[in-house]
Amino acid sequence: MNDSRRKEPHRAEGDVNLSARRKAWAARHVDAETRAMLDEDARYFLHQSLSTPCLAAVRKAEGIWIEDMAGRRYMDFHGNNVHHIGYGHPRLIAAIKRQMDELPFAPRRFTAEPAIALARKLVALAPKPLGKVLFATGGSDAIEIALKLARVATGRFKTVSFWDAFHGAGFGASSVGGESLFRAGGIGPLLPGSEHVAPFACYRCPYGYPSRDGKPILEQCRMVCADFVRYVLDKEGDVAAVIAEPVRAVPYLPPPGFWQAVRQACDAAGALLIFDEIPNGLGKTGRMFTAEHFDVVPDILVLGKALGGGILPIAAVIARPELDVAGHIALGHYTHEKNPVTCRAALTTASTSSRTARPRRRPSTRRKRCSIAPSKKG
Ligand SMILES: Cc1ncc(COP(=O)(O)O)c(C=O)c1O
Repeated sequence: MNDSRRKEPHRAEGDVNLSARRKAWAARHVDAETRAMLDEDARYFLHQSLSTPCLAAVRKAEGIWIEDMAGRRYMDFHGNNVHHIGYGHPRLIAAIKRQMDELPFAPRRFTAEPAIALARKLVALAPKPLGKVLFATGGSDAIEIALKLARVATGRFKTVSFWDAFHGAGFGASSVGGESLFRAGGIGPLLPGSEHVAPFACYRCPYGYPSRDGKPILEQCRMVCADFVRYVLDKEGDVAAVIAEPVRAVPYLPPPGFWQAVRQACDAAGALLIFDEIPNGLGKTGRMFTAEHFDVVPDILVLGKALGGGILPIAAVIARPELDVAGHIALGHYTHEKNPVTCRAALTTASTSSRTARPRRRPSTRRKRCSIAPSKKG
């Protein structure tokens, strides 16, 4: 059997805990009902790393809590990053129910009030001058939209992204992602021109520099991680976009000044900057958008996960208005792109999150204009 057909879960990454202690825990705590459910799950679902087999079964999710079949309650610090406003927020449930009664669906080519209201809300909340949106059903699909848009807008196809990053499971998202689980083992070939550099990570710096309690020692490393992005942009010369999470969900914070340096490098190279804020946007970091911590505005910002309030799947791309250059082709056109119920969920979630997020700071260094190269594709 070749490497791609092996049955053992990939041990390099992910949350499948294969330790003896995990096995001992399961033997003690997985009751008969849960065991039967796990067996049924494993019987019917195609097995894939990180999903099946499962570790346990859940019967309730409420606020910050999940509850397993035996009634054990866990404070859920992970929550797949969907529960910024808590699981099952009562205002959200009421809004979804109302919307289902009023207008459950809007076929493509028809718009509807919840979709427009959501677009207006996201534009109002997003760092300026981001001002045009598209919706998708999941984060991975929204990343594909962002990549297509960057290609069309710049007339280039290459990207620079980070090893170890995750941007979704689609082919485009897997190409710019840097986790072997989503790229290796028979999945490829992936998109050509997907260049990767080692990520910022001051704790265990991949470039080998020491840290002080996980914080960078800039006099020593001179932020080589940002320099490397610039270096690759220079060497390639025709990169469409740099795509990254501004704060890696793993989590890693960038060294101070990192994003300003990368922003400048992108501007100098005529490359767009795409921020994947799918896990961390919408107030998780204390500000509505992670970019706001760094006084940097990306050309395209991608939201997902918590946007549907932990109940419904919806994701969004928010772009600079001058990137509205793809009217001649389809970037997304997903069946549920303007679904009134998912849009209502997102609108309610965005309103709820924005009540608690700290107000936006004005960027200290204003960029002049988005420097996009003319599109070769018209
Ligand atoms: C940083 C990041 N980008 C993209 C995605 C993909 O989102 P989805 O699972 O909705 O496709 C994820 C999901 O974990 C993520 O963490």
